[in-house]
Amino acid sequence: MRVLGLWNVSKQAQFAFKPTLISKHLNHTKAFVTTPIYYVNAVPHIGHLYSTVLADTIRRHYALHGKQVLMSTGTDEHGLKIQQAADKNNMKPIEFCDKVSESFKSLCEAADIGYTSFERTTNKHHILAVNELWDQLLKKGYLYKGKHEGWYAVSDEAFYTKNQVHEVVDEKSGEKVMVAIESGQRVEWTVEENYKFKLSAFGDRLLEWIDANPKSIVPNNRKNEVKSWINAGLADLSVSRLRSRLDWGIPVPNDPDHTIYVWLDALTNYLTATGYPWNKDSKNKDFFPPDVQVVGKDIVRFHAIYWPAFLMAAELPLPKQILAHAHWTMGKQKMSKSRGNVADPFQVLKDCGVDPVRYYLVRDGGLADDGDYSEDMIRTRYKKDLASQLGNLLNRSTAKTLLSDGIVPIKSDTLDDRDEFMHKEISETAENFDKAFEEREFSRAYTYIFDMLSHANKHFADNEPWNLAKKPEEKQRLNDVLFYSLEACRIAGILLQPVMPTKMDSLLTRLGVSENDRYFKNAKEFTKVERPLGEIDGVLFPRL
Ligand code: MSP
Repeated sequence: MRVLGLWNVSKQAQFAFKPTLISKHLNHTKAFVTTPIYYVNAVPHIGHLYSTVLADTIRRHYALHGKQVLMSTGTDEHGLKIQQAADKNNMKPIEFCDKVSESFKSLCEAADIGYTSFERTTNKHHILAVNELWDQLLKKGYLYKGKHEGWYAVSDEAFYTKNQVHEVVDEKSGEKVMVAIESGQRVEWTVEENYKFKLSAFGDRLLEWIDANPKSIVPNNRKNEVKSWINAGLADLSVSRLRSRLDWGIPVPNDPDHTIYVWLDALTNYLTATGYPWNKDSKNKDFFPPDVQVVGKDIVRFHAIYWPAFLMAAELPLPKQILAHAHWTMGKQKMSKSRGNVADPFQVLKDCGVDPVRYYLVRDGGLADDGDYSEDMIRTRYKKDLASQLGNLLNRSTAKTLLSDGIVPIKSDTLDDRDEFMHKEISETAENFDKAFEEREFSRAYTYIFDMLSHANKHFADNEPWNLAKKPEEKQRLNDVLFYSLEACRIAGILLQPVMPTKMDSLLTRLGVSENDRYFKNAKEFTKVERPLGEIDGVLFPRL
């Protein structure tokens, strides 16, 4: 093997990397990423897979930076709607939960989700955590008993005020019914004595937190929405239901006539995942608070208002970021079972492959605005980006006719004018990608990579390496041309690992990149040492 000396100094300085623009939380060695915990009243659909894949891609991105990462996911199993779903299926609630929870776990396996903890709200250690948080809220004086009147939506497990509901005519029955404006779900008038949480005391502190931490709620449209809710005034929150109305839930400690409100129960799962209530043996305590909490736009209120307020009340640290994505629609309409426009995630993973589906979801998923789901688009992305750009570049630049000795070359120590553009683009891709990823602009982040690959394919074609290979005196030029193609593949491969872990493992193996050299820092540098290509079975992106 030959080690290359320093490149031409002026060229090197010209293309030198800028100091890493690492955001604040990347300075830690630990990171904690969460998904919502999923209701078990129905089997998983593509929207659930989206929240989970997004979180797993972020988890792996932290790992790419060499961090130790905790990722929690799980199932939300208490509440009236789960109880009703179990009844409908003639099953005991816990048997029903066991069954559906298992399907969410299977989806994680099917989609290569490397969670570190799967929380079920019916688990003993979770119940302990909820009891502890309740005790803290009570002890600190934020809970009181009071009469509660309001509109309750079972589907949302949420109370609404009179301004948050309106009357509509039910499409099927023609009856006039009351629904929540925000979610469109049926509400019913309820009056009961229950426990209330002094949410009204937290408006100013919540606004201060949001303003002091501009990235605490992203994207901006969600942040503005949350601020407008807070500015409109926060009423105290009912945090228990009468046991006579809801018994499928965690009893209020020392007051078993009441059941803890499902959202207080569910939100606690993020604490449970770190071993709360912590003691000296809790090895994951330091992971709290979460760095990124992925949620859908429908549950922002719970995560960006109730959850931080509970934490403030219990004197616990607040999450660093709530990442609220928009929804997938199908045929531009909200996915719903009754409309029959719900995509089965298991089927699509089987039909299109795990990594292409993950890539499609993260690349095209609507973050600020809803995105329309289409299996055709998965195939288009597969053909255009994966097969025609990345797969093609890998195939042509590792062809035996060009790379006859199977050794990945290093470039000569001068920079040819014909390579200047490529050299600069390859040098900048990792930083550009990372910055966009950190800003949670995933589509823009991947565009940097695929633009680089498209230019690398053009650079390859323009330089006609097949002609260079015929002339022994052009050996060094051939090496330089191949060097840029192979570097584009390697850097793309490293940066795409979080979203396509299996395919990128194969790609990097084919390129002979050792496991220790697959970190973000390796994508910021050109290869300086020759290495042999590796072997993989078959083509990286065969025809679908
Ligand atoms: N159980 C609560 C969350 C409690 S977290 C402490 C819940 N569960 S859910 O199963 O209804 O939804 C879970 C996630 O799936 C939410 O983030 C929601 O936004 C997401 N999706 C459900 N349908 C969706 C789409 N059609 N598109 C994208 N995501 C959507 O809410």
